[in-house]
Amino acid sequence: MRTPFVVGNWKLHKTIAESLALVTELKNQLGALREVAVGVAPPFTALNAVAKRLEDSSIVVSAQDCYWEEKGAFTGEVAPGMLRDAGCTWAIIGHSERRQFFGETDETVGKKVKAALAAGLGAIACVGETLAQRDGGTTFQVVEQHLRGVFADVGAPDAALLERIVIAYEPVWAIGTGRTATPAQAQEVHAFIRGWLTENVSAAASAAIRIQYGGSVKPDNAVALMREPDIDGALVGGASLQAADFVAICRAAKPA
Ligand code: PGA
Repeated sequence: MRTPFVVGNWKLHKTIAESLALVTELKNQLGALREVAVGVAPPFTALNAVAKRLEDSSIVVSAQDCYWEEKGAFTGEVAPGMLRDAGCTWAIIGHSERRQFFGETDETVGKKVKAALAAGLGAIACVGETLAQRDGGTTFQVVEQHLRGVFADVGAPDAALLERIVIAYEPVWAIGTGRTATPAQAQEVHAFIRGWLTENVSAAASAAIRIQYGGSVKPDNAVALMREPDIDGALVGGASLQAADFVAICRAAKPA
């Protein structure tokens, strides 16, 4: 069985002090939640402080991006090994905001996923269509193209590696808009992703890889989304900035 995984993507929010206040609350409130894996993705500047604060907790720390080289003349970039050093165990890769505003492509996503896994990080790789693509009937093609990028350089993952690969299905039209995919809409794409994994990676990958849903997940829609058979947790933006909402979403991911 796949352990549901809920990650809070804080985006460009929170100072170090604000980050510590939030994770301290999360630690206190989620300490007893055993059946759900929980992570937070603070901005780079707060990663190390947050990781230290969470040392005695099961909440994991993720970066929001990483570079694909380990060192060199790449001003402004952060290497996977540096993220490990800062206490991170995961990195979000290929978020739609990076694709939209920062030139992320399927090719760079593939390189980043490979580099993150090689450094021992887990990779949360994001896929998902825009509203125009959904309306144009190309959702599955777009998601398939994103998946090909994610897995381009991964090779044949062994069982241990599968634990460290997560796909986040995030329809761009649902991110930060308050307009969430219905559970049926999300499940349809999640099932497509699982089928793609069976055909293009392996049956073991399809069974083990967790597929998160992301896009306006809130306490009041989380239970219905998490009930779908192929939804294995959530990547949460706005609602992860307040402890009460994020805690409620984490609890909603608990298997029935
Ligand atoms: P949202 O963001 O929950 O604010 O829609 C989700 C995400 O971008 O990961």
